[in-house]
Amino acid sequence: MKIAVQKETDPAEPRVAATPETVKKFIALGATVAVEPGAGVKSGVPDGEFEAAGASLSADAAGDADIVLRVKRPDAGDLGKYKPGALVIAIMDPYGNDAALKAMAGANVASFAMELMPRITRAQSMDVLSSQANLAGYRAVIDGSSEYCRALPMMMTAAGTVPAAKIFVMGVGVAGLQAIATARRMGGIVTATDVRPAVKEQVQSLGAKFIAVEDEEFKQAETAGGYAKEMSKEYQAKQAALVADHIKKQDIVITTALIPGRPAPRLVSREMVASMRPGSVLVDLAVERGGNVEGAEPNKVVEIGGVKIVGLANGAGRLAASASSLYAKNLLTFIETMIDKKEKKLAVNWDDELVKATLLTRDGAIVHPGFQPKSA
Ligand code: NAI
Repeated sequence: MKIAVQKETDPAEPRVAATPETVKKFIALGATVAVEPGAGVKSGVPDGEFEAAGASLSADAAGDADIVLRVKRPDAGDLGKYKPGALVIAIMDPYGNDAALKAMAGANVASFAMELMPRITRAQSMDVLSSQANLAGYRAVIDGSSEYCRALPMMMTAAGTVPAAKIFVMGVGVAGLQAIATARRMGGIVTATDVRPAVKEQVQSLGAKFIAVEDEEFKQAETAGGYAKEMSKEYQAKQAALVADHIKKQDIVITTALIPGRPAPRLVSREMVASMRPGSVLVDLAVERGGNVEGAEPNKVVEIGGVKIVGLANGAGRLAASASSLYAKNLLTFIETMIDKKEKKLAVNWDDELVKATLLTRDGAIVHPGFQPKSA
């Protein structure tokens, strides 16, 4: 059982899919581990630490691997390196990327999308969306506060009082909850909104105030899987009116709203941005999926009328060491379910619900029911 840890192809991706700790665990499970040189450098893991954990270093580690670990989906160049039937596990970003899925099927690899892991108790330790979103939510408050020209907590000094910053979190999933908790710890006055009613209590338990249009549609807005639905035009209009009135009084706005498989909902218009006072900051964590804030651009700080819009792409990657360590653990616990511990060999149960939910391609075909090519 050979496991390869690849260096990410995208130079903007600083995370790595294994740590010395997970390498040791894989070896204890009977695997040999080869790491591409430099794979961990941007996450604070030099090659020597992987070697000390028992891995070998090899530029073509992936060539004969049974399992290839990555952070992001492999490109055509990577796909040419793998042996047929290899398991390739990564955050695959499968929605709307039909050609890339076809290419993985064509390369005859068994590709797994970690973000499709079901959110059930058994798979909690494999939940990459949570492990990464939590860090991104924290980082959004740090980035927002560093662009903000005032202090966050209230300070009463001999020279006068600095008021506490008003921080508004839009979208309260895993990232939003961590953003609320962080903003509170930093002394902000925090309000939050979401379309899922279950969120209200969570927001209040963190000491923040919940603000939302709580009509009949709101009461039905959560899917069985716990995600948000796309809301009607009517709801969006009511939500926009409420937000417009609230946002002009805010100092920092953090948006995290996502709907799986759909573009991010537009929550903040240009007019709303213009209504905020100069020096205010918006941080858009959904920028890679189209953005919640009009005018946000990935990896840029855009300034409109003195208001800054921070387009925070790969928020978790901005805490690369923490993000890699949690992601590597997510991968380890998933792969453990595919190993026969007595025989110390790979034994994938293709009928396992976790495998079925995450497997995109196998034996030359796209096998995931959610990503079947549309018939011509
Ligand atoms: P997400 O990243 O898909 O979306 C972020 C948030 O945006 C969600 O709370 C969503 O309701 C909200 N949103 C969507 N459209 C919106 C709109 N128009 N206006 C305002 N907000 C909007 O969500 P995430 O972080 O993946 O969490 C989804 C749910 O899954 C949560 O209930 C979370 O607590 C739950 N969860 C369950 C786990 C488990 O049971 N093992 C593990 C992790 C999360």
